[in-house]
Amino acid sequence: TFVVTENCIKCKYTDCVEVCPVDCFHEGPNFLVIDPEECIDCTLCEPECPAEAIFAEDDLPENQGEFKQINADLAKTWPVITEKKDPLPEAKEFDGKPGKLGLLER
Ligand code: SF4
Ligand code: F3S
Repeated sequence: TFVVTENCIKCKYTDCVEVCPVDCFHEGPNFLVIDPEECIDCTLCEPECPAEAIFAEDDLPENQGEFKQINADLAKTWPVITEKKDPLPEAKEFDGKPGKLGLLER
């Protein structure tokens, strides 16, 4: 399965959602997650993210391991998103900032 990681937080560009053939992206206030039970590993979303926040679970950067569980948990409660929308207004400012996990709104 593929996993959305920390750099999506406070950016939420949403380019990823339009290419997913099985609609497995779910949207929260300032982050998206992938439902691991729906993802078919097609790889299409990974290159679409301007923030390079999407990884195959086997290629997760070492410090992003907890996002596997975060995606699985939040996909259960957040609604599906299939259409691109404007990024968050603070996207440019926060793209690439470390330590954004504390800013995740659930
Ligand atoms: Fe959807 Fe494919 Fe990305 Fe999985 S890898 S989330 S199926 S676009
Ligand atoms: Fe987030 Fe990248 Fe999608 S910033 S919303 S994973 S395009």
